[in-house]
Amino acid sequence: MAQVHDIGVDLGTSHVLVYMRGRGIILREPAVVAVDRDMDRVLAVGSDAQRLLGRTPGSIQAVRPLRQGAITDYDLVKTLLSDLIGHAIGRRLFSRPRAVMSVPTGVNEIEKRSLISIMFDAGMRRTQILERPIAAALGVGMRFDESYGSMIVDVGAGATDICVLSSNEITVGTCIPLGGDAFDDAIIRYIRRKHNLLIGERTAEEVKINIGSAIEPTGELKMDVTGRNLVSGLPKTMAVSAAEIYDALTEPVGHFVEAIQAVIERTPPQLAADIFDEGIVLTGGGAALSGLQDAVFRALHIPCAVAEDPQASVVLGCGRALEDTPTMRLLLNQSKRHWRR
Ligand SMILES: Nc1ncnc2c1ncn2[C@@H]1O[C@H](COP(=O)(O)OP(=O)(O)OP(=O)(O)O)[C@@H](O)[C@H]1O
Ligand SMILES: [Mg+2]
Repeated sequence: MAQVHDIGVDLGTSHVLVYMRGRGIILREPAVVAVDRDMDRVLAVGSDAQRLLGRTPGSIQAVRPLRQGAITDYDLVKTLLSDLIGHAIGRRLFSRPRAVMSVPTGVNEIEKRSLISIMFDAGMRRTQILERPIAAALGVGMRFDESYGSMIVDVGAGATDICVLSSNEITVGTCIPLGGDAFDDAIIRYIRRKHNLLIGERTAEEVKINIGSAIEPTGELKMDVTGRNLVSGLPKTMAVSAAEIYDALTEPVGHFVEAIQAVIERTPPQLAADIFDEGIVLTGGGAALSGLQDAVFRALHIPCAVAEDPQASVVLGCGRALEDTPTMRLLLNQSKRHWRR
C-alpha cells in the first residue's frame, strides 16, 4: 500500500535527487564524497564534499564514486546513499517507507541488489528499480502506453540514454558513455591544446554552463578562466570566447546527434514516423546545454524540446511510479524483467 513518506530516488553519476510524496523534491545534492584516506574517515558528503573536489591536499580526497554510468567505488556509494537518504527522510524513517529508484544504466545486476540492500539498511521497507529512460518519460508526463512511438533522450553527466518507447516498453534503445562530463573534457582538451592552459573539471563545467553552446553563438560572449600554464608551470588567467567553446563542443555534440540518428535508423518505420511528427524530448542536466535541441533539429530535422527542469525528470518519474496503479506496477515489474535478462 502507498504510504505518505514513500520516496523516489535518482542515483546519478553527478547528482542524487530524492522526491517525497506530497512534498516534491526534498534533496538535490552532488554525488561526491570527501574522505581522509590516512584516517580512513569520511569527512563530507554532497555539496560540502563538492566544494573540496579538485582542491584537496595530501591524504584528503573528494571523489565521485560513480563515473560514466557505472559504480567505481562501491563502499563510497554506500556512504553517499545512506548519508543522503538518512538526511532526506530523517525522523520519518520509523514508518519504513517504500522507494522507487533509478540507477545508471551501466550498473550491473549484482550491484543493483547491493544498492537495494543499502536502501534497506538506510531504512527503506522495499526498494524497486525503475529503468532510467522510463523514469525520465514518466517525469515529463510522456504517454507511451499505446502503440505509438515516442523518443526520450536523457543526457546525464556520465551517460546518455536514447530510447524509443511504445506500448509501455522500450522498443529500441541504447546508452552511450557521453554526457555532460564529456562536454567538460572536450573543453579541457581544447583549452590545453590551443592555449597551453590546463584547467580543472569544475572550471570547465562553469565555462560550459556560462558560455557553452551546441550551435554557433551569435554574441561576443567571453569568460575569464584560470588554470596552469603548461609552459611556465604558473597559474594564469585568460579570456575564452563562446565561439571557441562552441568549437570545442562540436565533436561531442556531433557524436551525440549521430547516436540519436543511429537509434532512429533501428526503429520500426511506423514508430519512426511518429517520432518525426511528435519530436524528441530531452531530459537530464546535460540537456540544459544551450542550443542542444537546435543542434538536433538542424541535423535530423526532427522537432526537439527540453524538459522544464531537465535534471529533475528522472526523480519526478520515480515519484510518479510510486502511485499504486496497474500501469506503474507493470512498468516496475518490467524493469525487474529487463534487469534479469
Ligand atoms: N545549464 C547547463 N548547461 C549545460 N550543462 C549543464 C547545465 N546544468 C547542468 N549541466 C550538466 O548536467 C550534468 C548533470 O546532469 P544530471 O544531474 O542529470 O546527471 P546525473 O543524473 O547525475 O548523471 P547520469 O544520468 O549520467 O548518471 C552535468 O554534466 C552538468 O554539467
Ligand atoms: Mg541522470
